[in-house]
Amino acid sequence: MQSRRYPPGPDGGPFGLGNVLRFRRDLYGFLDELVADHGDVVYFQIGSNFIYLVNHPDFVRQVLVDQWEHFKKPAFFKESSRGHWGDGLSNLEGDAWRARHRLLQPLFQRRHIARYARVVVECAQDMIANWQPGTVVDIMEAILTLVVRVAVRFTFDAELEGYGPASRRQERAGTIPLDEALGVDFRVTEYDGRTSPAVVMRRRAGRDMGAASQLIRQRWLTPTDRGDILSTLVTSGQRGDLTRQQLTDEIWQLMFASHHTMTITLVWLWHLLAQEPAVEREIHCELDRVLGDEAPDRSHLPGLEYGEMVIKETMRFCMPSLYLFRETARDIHLGQYTIEQGGLVMICPYLLHRDPRSFVEPERFKPERFSKSGSGINKMAYIPFGAGPRGCIAQAFAMMLAKLVLATIARLHRLVDAPGQAEKPRFFPPMYPGQPFLMKVEARDG
Ligand code: HEM
Repeated sequence: MQSRRYPPGPDGGPFGLGNVLRFRRDLYGFLDELVADHGDVVYFQIGSNFIYLVNHPDFVRQVLVDQWEHFKKPAFFKESSRGHWGDGLSNLEGDAWRARHRLLQPLFQRRHIARYARVVVECAQDMIANWQPGTVVDIMEAILTLVVRVAVRFTFDAELEGYGPASRRQERAGTIPLDEALGVDFRVTEYDGRTSPAVVMRRRAGRDMGAASQLIRQRWLTPTDRGDILSTLVTSGQRGDLTRQQLTDEIWQLMFASHHTMTITLVWLWHLLAQEPAVEREIHCELDRVLGDEAPDRSHLPGLEYGEMVIKETMRFCMPSLYLFRETARDIHLGQYTIEQGGLVMICPYLLHRDPRSFVEPERFKPERFSKSGSGINKMAYIPFGAGPRGCIAQAFAMMLAKLVLATIARLHRLVDAPGQAEKPRFFPPMYPGQPFLMKVEARDG
């Protein structure tokens, strides 16, 4: 019998422990080395997992678009999110996924989300209401609070006192299972200043979500159509399409899918603008031209073209989703290799977004590469929202939110690194409140 030919990769020793250590010590160095040393398909062991790292836009297209139905979300991914917030859209497969996607998709269409433009601007205005030149703000905390508030309004059409801090603990707890499952995190984790094992942390965080759970219960028992996500799901429940547990799981997953990605994107946006005065000036010119003296609203969105380019370049640079995983549902041919059924495939936006074959001077922050007259970026080399049918359902919502927050703040203020804030915002290990990222408010010139 002919033996299977595996792609090249590093020898991590027993249980891939060498790779685990490299991964934990210097994730980006490790990833860079994998592709520099072994090419566009790399095979390596990390903990108990054997991974195929795929790093060419043609192969990415094959996995996420052309053959997407033959790739499932891996068991470890599902188990970690199931234990945490249940089975939402991102955990479903086949017909169950199709039905849920059909149900949710209309809520994320431009027409629907435009209704939330006013809410986004209102929340952003509240955030900056007390900002004065010289004020030092923890931008991480401020943006996360804003994002959570917008997500709560979008989902529940309500303000939920006490939900913010609880959701943050839940969010922080949420990263633990994935890291554990990958075999890169066995630690005992800090929680509320005390040290407690991750499992205790998760349980406690879950209990904190009382305010939102209560609201779901009330609306399930006495349905009212408020045009929010909860109303749509409750209506679906009344028709018998969704149990209350499924509804609750979906709500949690939508909430948490937005908190981390949006916050990381917006914090990096402000950090990068502070380093790039020419880009910041261009933003200010566009805002003056498009807004005049008005506060931003949905009618201004199409005019904020440069702002959109800056946000896209921020997501190229900072990659709010570090890696995407899939498990093959059957044997798959990828170039000269066959990945057996059950094989674990990893796609890493960090590597694709910094690949000089796809981006000229990838280490430079250059929003112009996303201009309409730009040279045309390979869609599979730039995947902050994933790609294909399983790509981010909320891409248009996320872009609307980011553009309006940028416009609301930058119309009035500049943000510069606060004295003593030497570190960059980190995205691995991810930064969370409790690790403040301080910026100083300055008045805009002229
Ligand atoms: C900058 C903001 C965001 C980024 C960068 C982002 C990124 C992503 C990525 C990369 C995926 C695909 C994951 C994969 O293929 O394995 C995804 C899926 C998903 N995202 Fe987002 N996301 C963002 C905001 C949001 C928001 C605001 C929501 C909800 C309100 C959301 C809800 C979802 C859901 C439900 C899925 C699963 C889709 C499916 O499996 O069919 N995302 N997102």
